[in-house]
Amino acid sequence: MDGRYGDSTRSVKAAGSEAIPGSPVSPPPVPASTYHLSPDETEPLDSYGRSSNPTWRQLESALAELEGAAKALTFGSGMAAITSVLRVLAKPGTKLVVPADGYYQVRRYAAEYLAPQGVTVVEAATPDICAASSDADVVLAETPANPGLDVVDLHRLAMTCRGRGATLVVDNTTATPLGQQPLSLGADLVVASATKALSGHSDLVAGYVAGSHEELMSAVERDRLLAGPVLGAFEAWLVLRSLGSAGLRFERQCHNAQSLAVMLRAHPAVRSVRYPGLPDDPSHSIATLQMRRFGGLVAVELKDAAAVHALVERSALIIASTSFGGIHTSVDRRARWGDPVSDGFARISLGIEDTDDLIADFEQALG
Ligand SMILES: Cc1ncc(COP(=O)(O)O)c(C=O)c1O
Repeated sequence: MDGRYGDSTRSVKAAGSEAIPGSPVSPPPVPASTYHLSPDETEPLDSYGRSSNPTWRQLESALAELEGAAKALTFGSGMAAITSVLRVLAKPGTKLVVPADGYYQVRRYAAEYLAPQGVTVVEAATPDICAASSDADVVLAETPANPGLDVVDLHRLAMTCRGRGATLVVDNTTATPLGQQPLSLGADLVVASATKALSGHSDLVAGYVAGSHEELMSAVERDRLLAGPVLGAFEAWLVLRSLGSAGLRFERQCHNAQSLAVMLRAHPAVRSVRYPGLPDDPSHSIATLQMRRFGGLVAVELKDAAAVHALVERSALIIASTSFGGIHTSVDRRARWGDPVSDGFARISLGIEDTDDLIADFEQALG
């Protein structure tokens, strides 16, 4: 797509349909497991629901467009997308690097399923991932990492991986393709959860893989066919429908996050704040180079767990929920899920509420 376009134009165009007179502007979902076959056994485009689906195809071409990829493949969840890629790449004897400060279920999958099969799994904190990757075969990076929001220099990491012939996979969930395009910075594959800001309404679970290496993408597609972690047609349609407003929503979420981070930084009840958009954040300089927007998440450290509970109880706008990227502003105390953070650490996901209302609400709720 033309690089001159802004994020809302990109997302509206990506979610749009071909202008065929008489066809719906917003294409309906096609829920189907079985399709009519041709009597002469020539293969039609769609034959069975685990192999392909017209609604997936529309969503996949929109996601490929946004990620700047030749191809995208949808999955039933972000974890389904990530584990499919890991099954393809991490074979016995390979060394796999995963983020020690990234989404915790990925570390669990690597430790519980891949390590017992002979994959050497190394966990490295995002700021150390380049150094840990110098002798790796597969590197999975997450940037900004969830929940600590450290950012890795993707171009440098891609150079490290290329020098060694390693495959670089980047989880683009927190930034979204509207915030950064890892493939253009040298990543081999993007994996992501579309459950978060891309769909943005907290009403579905979905994931995708995007890339331009034909062989790699074919291997992932084959794994999806054989393992079967597919997305339902209705969910695919909901993601596609939501994509049209993703630029608008993400712009507001990022603006709310920046405003809240500035306010929290000056608040006496707050011990520390991480947001890549803060000029003195350790990730700011690299984030400025590789991100179009700094994202809708803010990481904050309060005194203890009770302080996080009190924040939610006193607030009129914030909800307590895990996951992020939805239209509602939410708070999640990550130590409860076992993340290696302090008891008072909370990940705040900014919604699309009016900025002034949110700031006033946080101020009164912090006391
Ligand atoms: C960074 C990141 N990647 C992947 C996932 C997994 O996505 P899903 O919940 O759609 O399986 C999550 C979920 O929170 C996440 O935060």
